[in-house]
Amino acid sequence: MPKLTFLGHACFLLEEEGESTLIFDPFLSANPQAALKAEQVKADYILVSHAHHDHLGDAYTVAKNNGATIISTAEIAGAAQGEGCQAHALHIGGKYSFPFGWVKLTPAFHGSGIPGGHACGFVVHYAGKNLYFAGDTGLFGDMKLIGELTPLDLALLPIGDNFTMGIDDAVMAASFLKAPRVVPYHYNTWPVIKANPEEFKKKVEEKTGAQCTILAPGESIRY
Ligand code: NI
Ligand code: MN
Repeated sequence: MPKLTFLGHACFLLEEEGESTLIFDPFLSANPQAALKAEQVKADYILVSHAHHDHLGDAYTVAKNNGATIISTAEIAGAAQGEGCQAHALHIGGKYSFPFGWVKLTPAFHGSGIPGGHACGFVVHYAGKNLYFAGDTGLFGDMKLIGELTPLDLALLPIGDNFTMGIDDAVMAASFLKAPRVVPYHYNTWPVIKANPEEFKKKVEEKTGAQCTILAPGESIRY
């Protein structure tokens, strides 16, 4: 069972013994919630959903320190290579098999933070399980397709509103995705994205079949 650790805001670490370690959106040094310093991260792959500072974050530092590969859209992968990092470019709807499993880029309705780019989410097949990380996005109906095309074991959803889905839209997202388990993120980092994860948990468990696990920064689950 893969181990997922929440490092604060939208940053997650995905590990399994004997497998490559993945980190999502490594915003750590400027992150008031960060559970780890960027210099402490050990990772082989870095998945970056878009180039806003709270997602691209310390990606280049972590990549250089670890000789890790950045997996992102073509625009961000190109920028990362320009900074001297290893990168693998994918784009929306595209899937690629890495030594640890496959990664497929999903749409995300949000700014890319880089000229010409798109924001994205990820479906990651890792250690036999399917994980969806939505990135920063508003709700969209095609989330139904994401769960239909790949039966999910776990969905990670932003709930903080203002920049992304808020609680009620994230509940609908969970009903579209049909993952048996959901974890909220992208809330309470700053006052503008203040949200009560207990409210999300109550609503999502009442209205969908999903079980919600709230992770404080530094906490982990196996799924
Ligand atoms: Ni953003
Ligand atoms: Mn964000």
